Amino acid sequence: MSANGKAKTSAHWPAIRFAVNGESCAVNVPPMKRLLDVLREDLHLTGTKEGCGEGECGSCSVRMNDELVNSCLVPVLQAEGAEIQTVEGLALDGELHPLQEAFLQNGGAQCGICTPGMLMAASQLLAHSPHPSDVEIREGLAGNLCRCTGFIRIFESVAAAARAAEAQPAQEPIGQSDLEQTNHAR
Ligand code: FES
Ligand code: FES
Repeated sequence: MSANGKAKTSAHWPAIRFAVNGESCAVNVPPMKRLLDVLREDLHLTGTKEGCGEGECGSCSVRMNDELVNSCLVPVLQAEGAEIQTVEGLALDGELHPLQEAFLQNGGAQCGICTPGMLMAASQLLAHSPHPSDVEIREGLAGNLCRCTGFIRIFESVAAAARAAEAQPAQEPIGQSDLEQTNHAR
């Protein structure tokens, strides 16, 4: 509510500016609105999913300034000036990202709720650890829960993506240049 007792309309909120998948954007929303809701409701990027809504499941994971965050816990004000990548930013020029391809080929894409978050966590992991051990894969995805099917195929998919990248050593590690790639492509 404003001082005169009237509810603020969206135009009255100061703009919060950041970049998503390489595109600059400004939103006029309450500063404490969850980044998850801004992505889904205001920017219509519905790939990021809500599971628990309280920081436990990782379904809402996005990369923000090269950190993996639970967007359900991030007030959009904290995103001011940030570079954000959502699952929509993985595929490039109509081509699936190598991680998406590996999830598809290895049965890791189990459901639409957990998979986007798993992909973003895997992208963050491989950006910093291109040749992860099994333990590192488990640790990298430890904040992402599947409550129904299990994790083995998901872990195998991440390992397969890492192996595929290893077979093409000229390429940068998966995930490392995703933010720059989307910047250049859009
Ligand atoms: S919806 Fe954000 S952690 Fe579960
Ligand atoms: S929660 Fe997505 S497959 Fe189990």
